[in-house]
Amino acid sequence: MAVLRFSIAIFISALVLPVTSVMAQTAPSDEERVEDLLSQMTLKEKVGQVSQFTGFWDVTGPAPTDETQARKAELLKSGIIGSMLNVVGVEEVRPIQEYALNSRLGIPVIFGLDVVHGHKTMFPIPLAEAASWDLDMIEQSARVSAIEAAAQGQTWTFAPMVDISRDPRWGRVMEGAGEDPYLGSRIAVARIRGFQGDDLSAPDTIVATLKHFAGYGFAESGKDYNTVDVGTVTLHNVILPPFKAGVEEADARTVMNGFNTLNGLPVTGDGYLQRELLKGEWGFDGFVVSDWASAREMIDHGYAKDPEDAALKAMEAGSDMDMESYVYLDHLEDLVEAGTLDVALLDDAVRRILRVKFELGLFDDPYKYLDADREAELLLSPAHREASLKMAERSIVLLKNDDDTLPIRKGEKIALIGTLAADKDSPLGNWRAMADDHSAVSVVEAFEAAGLDFVYAEGAVLEIGDAAFPNEVVVNLTDRSGFPEAVEAARNADKVIIVLGEDGLQSGEGRSRSELGFPGVQQELLEAVYEANPETVLVVMSGRPLVLTWAEAHVPAIVQAWHLGQESGHALTNVLTGAYNPSGKLPMTFPRSVGQIPIYYSHLNTGRPGPLTDVFWSHYIDESNAPLWPFGYGLSYTTFEYSNLRARKRGDVVEVSVRVKNTGSRAGEEVVQLYIRDIAASVSRPVRELKDFSKIELAPGKRMTLTFELGAEDLGFYNANGSYVVEPGDFEIFVGGSSDATLSTSFEY
Ligand code: NOJ
Repeated sequence: MAVLRFSIAIFISALVLPVTSVMAQTAPSDEERVEDLLSQMTLKEKVGQVSQFTGFWDVTGPAPTDETQARKAELLKSGIIGSMLNVVGVEEVRPIQEYALNSRLGIPVIFGLDVVHGHKTMFPIPLAEAASWDLDMIEQSARVSAIEAAAQGQTWTFAPMVDISRDPRWGRVMEGAGEDPYLGSRIAVARIRGFQGDDLSAPDTIVATLKHFAGYGFAESGKDYNTVDVGTVTLHNVILPPFKAGVEEADARTVMNGFNTLNGLPVTGDGYLQRELLKGEWGFDGFVVSDWASAREMIDHGYAKDPEDAALKAMEAGSDMDMESYVYLDHLEDLVEAGTLDVALLDDAVRRILRVKFELGLFDDPYKYLDADREAELLLSPAHREASLKMAERSIVLLKNDDDTLPIRKGEKIALIGTLAADKDSPLGNWRAMADDHSAVSVVEAFEAAGLDFVYAEGAVLEIGDAAFPNEVVVNLTDRSGFPEAVEAARNADKVIIVLGEDGLQSGEGRSRSELGFPGVQQELLEAVYEANPETVLVVMSGRPLVLTWAEAHVPAIVQAWHLGQESGHALTNVLTGAYNPSGKLPMTFPRSVGQIPIYYSHLNTGRPGPLTDVFWSHYIDESNAPLWPFGYGLSYTTFEYSNLRARKRGDVVEVSVRVKNTGSRAGEEVVQLYIRDIAASVSRPVRELKDFSKIELAPGKRMTLTFELGAEDLGFYNANGSYVVEPGDFEIFVGGSSDATLSTSFEY
């Protein structure tokens, strides 16, 4: 066995070295083992280590052909594949690992998968989880995902996606933490800790991936894979912070680059980002994986002239592993042999990959992730479902609740309307390849389980017909045949709960939208139902902020439910009935209209913030500047009052204290948010920036004083050269339950 051969080699070298007795007892470090192994590898084997291929059942890019599949099998047997993705389950992973272990050096394969919001037990989509602002709960969600994925032979997830985005047209906002770099950084750290745990070699922890490095969320016009052009100040202050935090605070072991160009350069070929910044300044010693075929796509970008050139440029720029584009496999050997590529760069990439494999403990026990009993025991366990339910409850955002329309009162007769209320797939969200079909608890089922007095009417189907592609949704634009039944049900009810929004596959990769209303005839259904009974509660399931301007102006209560995962129906029922008092806050601004996008709270003031008396100020002539709901906003069934805001400078630290009181009649949780404004600086600073927050729970009538500390690391910023500077001057502080908080004070730093 190859593993045995390797350990014998170490044993023999220990015998021949003139060691002292203390040294003889010291096991070689991972770094020594990496170097030893590297020194034994042929050029071909090194190229294999930096190549990653997809398994046999799922793709998110051009599908592999029979020919490539046969080639992969051969390569595996000769130990020329370092990593595979999309091979899941003990039964599937074991034979592949055996091939690798039986090859010349027996280097184990690292198996990767997109474990994005749950594995078998599905959790709310990441954007929804971000709305909880509950870092412990988010970490716990990632922990459960890691436990389940590891039980299925996975050692690596391609998550968290930490791309900041201010454009809800972009379908992948569902996969991130929203628009804010501070919240995004805190959540990135929580998720990485959840996946990686304290000990990467434990059988239930997996390697995390910070992706997509960098700028992918700033795709022009919100169109996926599109061009990204941002200046230095935005790059360093908005886009990079979650990556930096993920590396420096949580030690993420891998980073994925991306499909996009950034200021004209495909990020897969960007040496500044990957070598200078990530591996240089930030000291990242894990490895970088490309996105799916992104090295080869540099040809389409017009940056590489052919696959060989693409391989050279990607490797030189620091993209260590090539995901499914074959350019490394086919060209690196020749490039090294011809002297075009310095083998030291390839060695560095291999070293990084081996290091992570050693950290995972794969060399010591390559089968520890392959225990069929553990697999059977852990997946979808009651404890995991409970964690998913709790996470889902906390992810829901109450957007409007006039006259205490919610919670539903005891004995009220409900008309439950909308196809999404009965949907058992959409709540599972987009990254649900491992989930069982139809396995989410629907609202209809949960209402039944809770014994509510209700009738259900579908109203309108969301999708019709067969799509040209399996993941495409063909929206119903014509069928209104269910309207009369829904209107009748509404008329006969005390209260209407109407569930509208997007199918779970209408957001995610490749699902950009140009309109952000309800797809199909749902808006018409809403208006018809509302006319029949204005006592209407709108529940919105979506993977992104939608434009809900009509609803906000008419419907008395609105609940943002995102796609909440396995326990969706129960979580929603608990919020609608008041069994759980909602506490979510928006991680992204909700626009009034698509024309306002990109819209975000931390914008610059402009030279003409207005309003002036005539038209020459920064505004629209046909739309307000205000969002429909701002970042950080969300209601509760109770109310909170903020007072006594104080800022004191103690040495280099500014101490900010504020009193929060629960002024309503129920216990509730509140996310206390602290924003600053740097009044004048060497580059214009945003009108507000989130700098800290705390989620608290208060009984009715109770109050609490919170203290935050702001240091130089909170008050500085990256200037136009990309350097971090802390400049003395005046700052304003705002504290409250939303980014439009009015309670403010100021200090000089
Ligand atoms: C493409 C996506 O952009 C990336 O996020 C994902 O991890 C890979 N496909 C692998 O599925």
